[in-house]
Amino acid sequence: MRISRRAFIQTAAAMGASLAWGGEARASMVKWTEKRDLYPEGVASGDPDPNSVILWTRRPFGEPRRHVLTVEVAEDDTFRRVVAQAKAPVLASADWTTRVLVGGLKPAHVYWYRFTDAKGNGSRIGRTITAPAADDPRPVNFAFVSCQSVNEGKLNAYRRMIFEDEHAAPEEQLGFVHHLGDFIYEVVEYPDEVKTRYDRTIYEVARIPDGGKSGNLHYPLTVDGYRAVYRGYLADPDLQDARARWPFVAMWDNHEFSWQGWQSIQQAGGPPRPGQSIKVAANQAWFEYMPARVKAPSGTFETFGPPPVKDVKIEKWDANGLGDEPNNLKAINSLIAYRALRYGKHLDLIITDQHSYRSPDPFSDHSLGRLGDWKDYNGMFPDDAMQILDGGRAFSGGNPPAEIRFQEQSIPNPQRNAPPQTILGATQKAWFKDKLRKSTATWKIWGCSLGCLDWRADPENLPAGLTKKPWPKGRFANLGGGDHGSAWVERKEIYELVRDAKITGFAIVSGDRHSFWAGYAAAELPPGNFEPVGLSFVGASLASPGVMEAYEHRLAKDLPLRPLYLADRPGGAKPDWTFNMLLKHGVRSCLDYARNFDLEQARKLSNPALSPHLEFVDMGGHGYAKVRLSGDEMRTEFVCIPRPITRSERPDGGPLRYRVVHTAPLWRVGEHPLLEQQVLEGDIGLSS
Ligand SMILES: [Fe+2]
Repeated sequence: MRISRRAFIQTAAAMGASLAWGGEARASMVKWTEKRDLYPEGVASGDPDPNSVILWTRRPFGEPRRHVLTVEVAEDDTFRRVVAQAKAPVLASADWTTRVLVGGLKPAHVYWYRFTDAKGNGSRIGRTITAPAADDPRPVNFAFVSCQSVNEGKLNAYRRMIFEDEHAAPEEQLGFVHHLGDFIYEVVEYPDEVKTRYDRTIYEVARIPDGGKSGNLHYPLTVDGYRAVYRGYLADPDLQDARARWPFVAMWDNHEFSWQGWQSIQQAGGPPRPGQSIKVAANQAWFEYMPARVKAPSGTFETFGPPPVKDVKIEKWDANGLGDEPNNLKAINSLIAYRALRYGKHLDLIITDQHSYRSPDPFSDHSLGRLGDWKDYNGMFPDDAMQILDGGRAFSGGNPPAEIRFQEQSIPNPQRNAPPQTILGATQKAWFKDKLRKSTATWKIWGCSLGCLDWRADPENLPAGLTKKPWPKGRFANLGGGDHGSAWVERKEIYELVRDAKITGFAIVSGDRHSFWAGYAAAELPPGNFEPVGLSFVGASLASPGVMEAYEHRLAKDLPLRPLYLADRPGGAKPDWTFNMLLKHGVRSCLDYARNFDLEQARKLSNPALSPHLEFVDMGGHGYAKVRLSGDEMRTEFVCIPRPITRSERPDGGPLRYRVVHTAPLWRVGEHPLLEQQVLEGDIGLSS
């Protein structure tokens, strides 16, 4: 199964990679003395395949602007069995980062690596693991993570992941970490300007040169600004240790470019602005700091080579909502990060980009505010109206309604002539569908940074008097927007492909929502046809604050609908998170629970039509998720930690809140997948 050196060189050349080739093992001849302070961001590896992996470090120098390190790869951590050694160029034009693709390695093998400069100053030692061969039948283990704000929290979750992995049997150890984005938050608070938010202390991350500011948030506008943020994040010791232990397979979410931005439009709390040069800068910094099998515009691995672009307002959109403006296209295509990774017999990981190609937000038209008294409903919006907006001109077979109605109000349908919403964009979607169709692995895992599960509620069942006017009967409310939980047209296109192509073992892993979710991939919910074609999971944030934390601090005490989100305990104890119950069981369960605090009785009032797609929701969880795939089963474990406000000094990263496992046997064509839930440790509260 080992590929030839010649084939490897061809692969490497396509990326412009600096490369090394594994051979006979011999003892290191390099005079290496560990000097971690000279490699302040540590080491990392990324995107393993059965024969190769990318190694990374940063070693800042002064003049001259190009230096060369030596990288060694060994079968042991004492480097007595070095199998590869190569030159690793570090350039000022890449912010002194380097990437080396090492080939000729054995599949499913643990390696150690280190970098050394000309004077013998060495990096720390990193550990990495190659992928199993495509016919390797052994089970596959990986973790998926997202949302690691070190501005507002600590990464105890990585500490726990490392601790548990070190103590796990070899066949249970993680092969890689799939990072689903918000690796950085480009919006940075400065502790001298803002001391706390919610329960959080604001920690120093970086000072952004030549950036912008909106409220308390500073954000980058140049590559040096983004680089400063990456360096600030990589100063975190737990993140450094995690990157030194496992290869990461990373994809950006929104914050690697811009909080509310999309395509090349930058927006972070203020008005949107044309940001072609900012998108290129974000791509450049991502390329420099995240070792991945991607191709830079320069055609080399040494340095990005940003294409020149102008910041021009996009005035025209094509039939798929893609901004038809040359600088926009140049900017978003300056780094194509969607890609797929084969990992043994059981895993094809297909990773997509949810921000660079998406169409204009269909839910943001100002007229929608006129449709109802939304403050009364705390963000609930009629689900059927959102489906009309999502569908645009294609809604109802090309017959969208001229007006949208709610209670006695009606407004002209603002999306009547717009194309249906796409998050993937046409080109990427075609690639994604092709990958899905051609996958031969047991499990086809879609790494989609944005969640795909609907968030609904049933305010039609509220008793009279809680809102000024009753919610219309027969209509659900939606509490989402912005992800695949409300991109019905596109989601359906993908799920119908899964169904029609008779694909089994389809599952989604996501991040972004700062909450844990487990459930089923289904195009429609009741009263539509509920027909799951796969599994769908959302992993919580590693550190970033979630909605329960925000509600504990900000939800009005006198809001009549408060019991749907928080159940206040008598005597001032911490409120229970009824929001979890709202999404899975509905308003009747929440109102009953907030009166009696009797979980069993409250669940008896569950609305079975509301969320047959959900098995588990924790809107207040933090931590990580672990997946184990075998020939007959997918097992997904949520490891939930308490709010990571301070850094735990414990070697295990501090206490657990709970550990819950959802297991699904591999289903046959035509069968519905079925999850079984098992709480292994702790208390899951109102999550199931
Ligand atoms: Fe996030």
